[in-house]
Amino acid sequence: MKILVLNGPNLNFLGIREKGIYGSKDYKDLLEMLQKKADDLGIELETFQSNSEGEIIDRIQKAYLDKVDGIVINPGAYTHYSYAIRDALASVLCPIIEVHISNVHKREEFRHVSVTAPVCTGQIVGLGLKGYLLAMDALVMEIKK
Ligand code: DQA
Repeated sequence: MKILVLNGPNLNFLGIREKGIYGSKDYKDLLEMLQKKADDLGIELETFQSNSEGEIIDRIQKAYLDKVDGIVINPGAYTHYSYAIRDALASVLCPIIEVHISNVHKREEFRHVSVTAPVCTGQIVGLGLKGYLLAMDALVMEIKK
């Protein structure tokens, strides 16, 4: 089983950006947590981060062509307005879990809307980096369903 964990803009700045909201662990720490989780689950993990909408779309399409079994995505601010990423996610047939580190519902109103969530299998919000690990568990369950 092969899954892709995809992170959007500014998530490479974890540990630098707004630590009170996103915590002090950096992107490298996140990648280590994800790899350990993948090893525990006995699955193959691919990761990708980009600050560019087009690159994220290209990576989603590549995941489809590579027959990836499932996707975890934190689209960052694109969550709130990228119909192009939504359309790319809607094109792939595998389960998709959307993750947000912060509780977007406690924050500014523009963060309350996700244009991507309706084409995802489920969403995990506000549980910090742990949310990615829970998303991986959920994804494996969905894939095995
Ligand atoms: C985020 C929430 C978004 O509103 C924000 O733009 C991000 C991170 C989160 O993980 O909490 O970049 O997706």
